[in-house]
Amino acid sequence: MPEDSMTIIDNRTGVSYTLPVKNGAIRAMDLRQIKTSPEDFGLITYDPAFMNTASCESRITFIDGDKGILQYRGYPIDQLAEHCTYLETAWLVLNGELPTEPQLEDWTCEIASHAAVPDDIPKILEGFRRDAHPMSVLASLVAALSTDYPEAKNVHDPAVRRLQIVRLLAQVPTLAAYAYRHSLGLPVVPPDPSLSYTENFLSMLWKKNEPNYRANPVLARALDVLFILHADHEQNCSTNAMRAIGSSLADPYMTMAGAIAALSGPLHGGANEEVLKMLDEIGSTDHIPAYIQKVKSGECKLMGFGHRVYKNYDPRARIIKRIAEQVFAVTGRNPKLDIAIALEKIALEDEYFVKRKLYPNVDFYSGIIYQAMGFQPEIFTVLFAIGRNAGWLAQWQELLADPAQKIARPRQVFLGSARREFVPMDQRGVAGAAGV
Ligand code: CMC
Repeated sequence: MPEDSMTIIDNRTGVSYTLPVKNGAIRAMDLRQIKTSPEDFGLITYDPAFMNTASCESRITFIDGDKGILQYRGYPIDQLAEHCTYLETAWLVLNGELPTEPQLEDWTCEIASHAAVPDDIPKILEGFRRDAHPMSVLASLVAALSTDYPEAKNVHDPAVRRLQIVRLLAQVPTLAAYAYRHSLGLPVVPPDPSLSYTENFLSMLWKKNEPNYRANPVLARALDVLFILHADHEQNCSTNAMRAIGSSLADPYMTMAGAIAALSGPLHGGANEEVLKMLDEIGSTDHIPAYIQKVKSGECKLMGFGHRVYKNYDPRARIIKRIAEQVFAVTGRNPKLDIAIALEKIALEDEYFVKRKLYPNVDFYSGIIYQAMGFQPEIFTVLFAIGRNAGWLAQWQELLADPAQKIARPRQVFLGSARREFVPMDQRGVAGAAGV
């Protein structure tokens, strides 16, 4: 019997099967041969929410959730956060290696030169309500780019693919800034190619009448590091959406609009906005024990806590806590930090959280920093999307280059009615079924 294999005995039939084990996984398709009769479809796996199913082989991001390790292309996240810029990290995530100095210079110039969005975008933007959520506006505007770049449909052409990657990395911050200014009723500020990626984003957000707006360098660097921390996180909900939609060969703009939609949910990227609402609701440290009680009784969740993969401190949360101190040295301390720190302390000592291995995740402290920097909570998840852009694109690229991939199409375990005859209207009774 080969060592890298496993033997399964089907107790329904007494037949045993030997399946290869590669990289700690069996292939679900190898189970299909396990049948109770020749007519049997064959065994499938049932795994709601992908608790234990790998959907791809990937070489981009490594996470060890028990040890709290996160690496992009082998490099520890804390080293990247300390030494890299976001665009340098984006290059790494997309290409597999850190850029050389000339590569990084060219890449930075190339991205800056594509940051202006097509002419129709401001007109589309004007059609949105002022109180439209910036994540909804961002998803819609990214989808709208698909109408400007119809050649993007040619996803099998590497040159076309690369150009769309550059455009998306360059233009998502512009769209995000436009969405934000629209919500404030302010005119848009076009990109300034003389500024760095993150300084330009801040200028598009906050420039007023100054001829040369320059963001505070500490705040610009802090935001750049936050983008690095969000750049990729292997097969999370929005990346899975990116891969699932991309597998149909939809163009990258439509595909990314779907990923942005997935990110907007409160269990995923939307949690950073929810954390701020929660801290507002708690109001002061005296109210924390009562709030924890509400969480433990199942009335609500502690937002910014818990993770599908991390069963230890999220390494990004640790770095974010450090950045918070640098930001507060410039902006003054956000009083919500004291509530958050006290909440974390109480939660980490409480049996409910200890037993379930619930630790602060990336979203727990990021909102407090964003708020101190002057952002409204509605844009927090948009900031997450700007960082995650690199990861979505790298995963999309990897998907399209992977010969093992096909259109994503899960199976189901069908438990509905067996075949039955149509019932005419006059024979359906009075009550009917409960409507949706
Ligand atoms: N507050 C209270 N209880 C929690 C929490 C929480 N934040 N998270 C998980 N639990 C409990 C959960 O109720 C369950 O308890 P029990 O075993 O008694 O039923 C247990 O812990 C296991 O949780 P789970 O729901 O099976 O975990 P999951 O892997 O399905 O969900 C999660 C992961 C992140 C969706 C969840 O922890 C959560 O909803 N957290 C709050 C929202 C949040 O902060 N999301 C951001 C995630 S990190 C960044 C990102 O991905 O965007």
